[in-house]
Amino acid sequence: MPLLGRREFLSRAALAGSLPFIAGAAAPAGRPPSSALLDRSRPPGALAADESAWRYVQAAWSVDRSIINLENGGVQPSPDRVHAAFAEFARHAHRAPPITLNREQLPQLEDVRARVAAAFGCEAEELALTRNTTEGAETVLLGYELSPGDRVLTTTQDYWRFLNTLKQRVARDGIEIDTLKLPPPDASAATVVDTFAAALTPRTRLVLISQLINLTGRMLPVRALVELCHSRQIPVLVDGAHGFAHIPARRDDLACDYYATSLHKWLGAPHGTGFLYVRRERIGSLWPHFPAPAELRDNIRKFESIGTFSAAPFLAIRTALDFYGEIGAEHKWSRLRFLRERWLEPLVNHPGVIVHLDRGESSSGALATVKFPGLAAQPLAKWLWERHRIVVRPVDHPEFSGIRVTPNLYTTSAEIDALSNALRTALREGLS
Ligand SMILES: Cc1ncc(COP(=O)(O)O)c(C=O)c1O
Repeated sequence: MPLLGRREFLSRAALAGSLPFIAGAAAPAGRPPSSALLDRSRPPGALAADESAWRYVQAAWSVDRSIINLENGGVQPSPDRVHAAFAEFARHAHRAPPITLNREQLPQLEDVRARVAAAFGCEAEELALTRNTTEGAETVLLGYELSPGDRVLTTTQDYWRFLNTLKQRVARDGIEIDTLKLPPPDASAATVVDTFAAALTPRTRLVLISQLINLTGRMLPVRALVELCHSRQIPVLVDGAHGFAHIPARRDDLACDYYATSLHKWLGAPHGTGFLYVRRERIGSLWPHFPAPAELRDNIRKFESIGTFSAAPFLAIRTALDFYGEIGAEHKWSRLRFLRERWLEPLVNHPGVIVHLDRGESSSGALATVKFPGLAAQPLAKWLWERHRIVVRPVDHPEFSGIRVTPNLYTTSAEIDALSNALRTALREGLS
């Protein structure tokens, strides 16, 4: 079957009665959907399942609706209003940079810091603005004092860059890494904690865990793991790339020492934005990635000493936070899980299908990785794209493989159903 052209795709979807609202060029004439559609006084479960309530939110993005983009696990698009704010800040910065960038915009980053800190539930003095999770986590992994023979514990499913960073410390500083294999996804939180407890050693100085594992969508019992590590005086770095603005958990729910996230993922802020949280009493002992003046030793701003940069993406974080606040953390979480269950639930009992996660609310989030009998991940992802213009991520890991599906708030139920139909065809007829 040839690739569907944009027009053909749109007309097929419309014929199927599946086109609730298409932003941008394909938008129906008339007023955009009203914000009143999203009645936040309704219980999250009921609101999540009411497709018409989400039209206002779906229309906030001018995404290309000829593509069904279910790969929101890497980088996400910003809602139009966020992008417009970013573009205006960028334009303004270039009017007279010594004034418009340096004097007007850079001081406003303090307000951004305070807003993000309030959303995460920490002090502004504990939050550094960074360009992404990588910058934040590597600041900790490279800046945490370790001596030869000291050990860092992590898992085989942590983010590849951070495992590489630790390997560099092994080569350069003579430290050692323990990478434990997680128990199966349906293992209880207590079993996960026991697995970590057994892997801690008297030389373990730092633990790195993911709040939500990007390969499968599995959520770890962060709070319980932090309590375990703290009982042995070991600090914990949480990779929150898939946590903030996805899972409603805040700092006090996690209780970790360091937390790094990207705001261009689930918050929908401009690309190249993130934050690093460092518990106040740990700021002084953590070396910044780029050396800062000595008098900033105990100041969170020492982690922002990166030279000239554009303030525009950071200033537009506020617009993304406003939109997130308008939707509500619980409603967002509920809607994302509704979209996941819409395609996942019918598949779980299909013979041979392997779902690499436990579907409980404290065990998994919006993204999920599934293996289909007789269908390798790479060819299936290629087929979905070439035949159906559906984007998913193939996952190939020594412990599992499959396609990872990550919806977003702009995703419609009709788009999810298009995925389900395509998968049913693939299961029935193969990738012919
Ligand atoms: C679990 C995890 N950690 C860290 C990162 C790195 O994020 P960034 O590229 O925004 O730094 C990613 C990116 O997908 C991720 O999935």
